[in-house]
Amino acid sequence: MRRKLVAGNWKMHGTQQFVREQLNLLRDGLGAEAGNADIVICPATIHLPLAAQLLVGCSLSLGAQNVFYAQEGAFTGEISAAMLAEYQVKYVIVGHSERRQHFAENDALVAAKFAAAQKEGLRPILCVGESWQQRESGDSHKVVLGQLANIVQEVGIAAFAHAVVAYEPVWAIGTGQTASPAHVQEVHAVIRNYLHGLDKNIADQTRIVYGGSVTAKNAADLFAQQDIDGGLVGGASLNADDFISICKSLD
Ligand code: PGA
Repeated sequence: MRRKLVAGNWKMHGTQQFVREQLNLLRDGLGAEAGNADIVICPATIHLPLAAQLLVGCSLSLGAQNVFYAQEGAFTGEISAAMLAEYQVKYVIVGHSERRQHFAENDALVAAKFAAAQKEGLRPILCVGESWQQRESGDSHKVVLGQLANIVQEVGIAAFAHAVVAYEPVWAIGTGQTASPAHVQEVHAVIRNYLHGLDKNIADQTRIVYGGSVTAKNAADLFAQQDIDGGLVGGASLNADDFISICKSLD
């Protein structure tokens, strides 16, 4: 049985006051829940130390939204996996489509970030997903498997033992246009089948979560699918009630 996982990606939102209020609400609302699933909060990098303090003694885990591939050096503005690990960060999102789009991150860079995170004991949450145009041309499977294969080729299948794959169709992110549970299940099965061909145990263990306009309303239908092991939630994770309700949909 795979342990379910829901991660809240706060993106570039929130003040210190928001972080305090939101984490207090989530601690109260999800304290008991988090026993059955991994619940991960990914605030802006600058808020990680504060969030780490607020989550001491709590079963909610901390995730980062980005990491750099080098261990240290002259890389102005960047943050290493070891620096994140010092603040109790357990997960890190790599390959998010917003970083691919706005910061020109390609599969080679994503693979290097994945490897750096994994080497430091952080669990990468690797995002893959097709654009609307690619979907319309019938290329969803090809694009997703291509992105995944490029990472596997660089880091090796064994590196996936503690990783999470997030299927995030670009057209569904922040648009309110959620992919249907049937479509997501189909793509997740294709991803699992691909992993299965490389390593059966890793394929069975790897959490494959869905991201793209997950809400309190649609979460239960998505999470009921056999190969959907949870979600990566953007917009709805900024509202404590909605996020708690999404996490409770895992039951
Ligand atoms: P969304 O974002 O839930 O706002 O669509 C998901 C994500 O970008 O991870």
